[in-house]
Amino acid sequence: MSPPLAGLASRRAFLKFLAASPFLAAAPFSLADPQQRPAAPRGGGEDAIASARDAVNVFDFEALAQQKLPPAHWGYLATGVDDDATIKANREGFTRYEIRARRLIDVSKVDMSIRLFGATWSSPIILAPVGSQRAFHPEGEAAVGRACKTKGHLFVLSTVGTASVEEVTAAAGGPIWFQLYPTNDWNVSRAMVKRAEAAGCPVLVLTVDLQGGSNRETLRRYEKRDTRACAPCHPLSGSFAENNRRKPMFDGLDLSRVRSVTLSDMTWDYIQRLKDVTTMKIAVKGIVTREDAELAVERGADAVIVSNHGGRAEESGRSAIECLPEVVDAVAGRVPVLVDSGFRRGTDIFKALALGATAICIGRPYCWGLASFGQEGVEAVLDILRRELQTVMRQAGTIAIGQITRACVVDRTR
Ligand code: GLV
Repeated sequence: MSPPLAGLASRRAFLKFLAASPFLAAAPFSLADPQQRPAAPRGGGEDAIASARDAVNVFDFEALAQQKLPPAHWGYLATGVDDDATIKANREGFTRYEIRARRLIDVSKVDMSIRLFGATWSSPIILAPVGSQRAFHPEGEAAVGRACKTKGHLFVLSTVGTASVEEVTAAAGGPIWFQLYPTNDWNVSRAMVKRAEAAGCPVLVLTVDLQGGSNRETLRRYEKRDTRACAPCHPLSGSFAENNRRKPMFDGLDLSRVRSVTLSDMTWDYIQRLKDVTTMKIAVKGIVTREDAELAVERGADAVIVSNHGGRAEESGRSAIECLPEVVDAVAGRVPVLVDSGFRRGTDIFKALALGATAICIGRPYCWGLASFGQEGVEAVLDILRRELQTVMRQAGTIAIGQITRACVVDRTR
């Protein structure tokens, strides 16, 4: 037996001995199995943060947000569907792509800016639409809008946000995008579209991934644990108007015929229907296949957003990052392709850009920052992600977003 193999055999014997050791049997993990080694400490416990500046990464805000929020509000933010397997897949999907580091390139100056529909943004990190942000912090979407203004990011306001498009546009100091949930009453949908247009939104984001409904079990379980009186804010009467009276985008509208913000009979014709009443560009959010990407562009979409709604639409088990390449290929440069669902690290963002995304959107991380420290927390999350993206751009020898190409990553399954 050659010495290295002998070394391997004795290492195996040592690991076998360790695995059988009574000390290890008592340990909560097995040192012999790398999968089970504890990850670097993250948030909570000894790593709990007292200020936004203390955060090492965005997960530190997750731990604090969970502590600070009432159970039902945390459940709303955290929930996926069924077993939350798609949330997990969204994170695991990133490991499929590896980054090719490059050496000896002058990376002293890095430009992370992008252009999107004629506007320049300081980074490719967009804040995705998330509903009910005042459930996370009293200043809700207005605080997020102010953070976007300070840091130069684009914000997308949700139909079911707890601030109006006018209020958030003012907070952001310039145009934001508006996300539309198409209600079953066209008059209501059209009125919101016109309102967003009048507020100066250049882009309308049409969400198309909740048409099948979504089975949010984690939310239901956290709701059961919440012992507060919920009825004052969430009346049990069940009427749409009652349940949405704290959603300013519905203010002044006749909601008597609205049953839901998701339409089970929506088809591709809806894009043209919107185009007939607005000059805003239409971005279709929730595309995960090449077939639908092709159809979206054919039917007039001005942008496509690859998304599984942060794992809160269907339990497909398929990560958004793994859906991105086929969508990018189908779109073939005709319109911008954005992507969200599971982005937590600069390296995640880098991989998506390398696979052809024009920009990426984050959802939960900025809400963790909001819940933890309001505007300051959102700004800190954005700073961390920008810093991480800048670091990996340097490591890969790419000093501008346009230099991040497919050659920068390897698909380890090929
Ligand atoms: C809203 O977009 C939600 O996912 O609850």
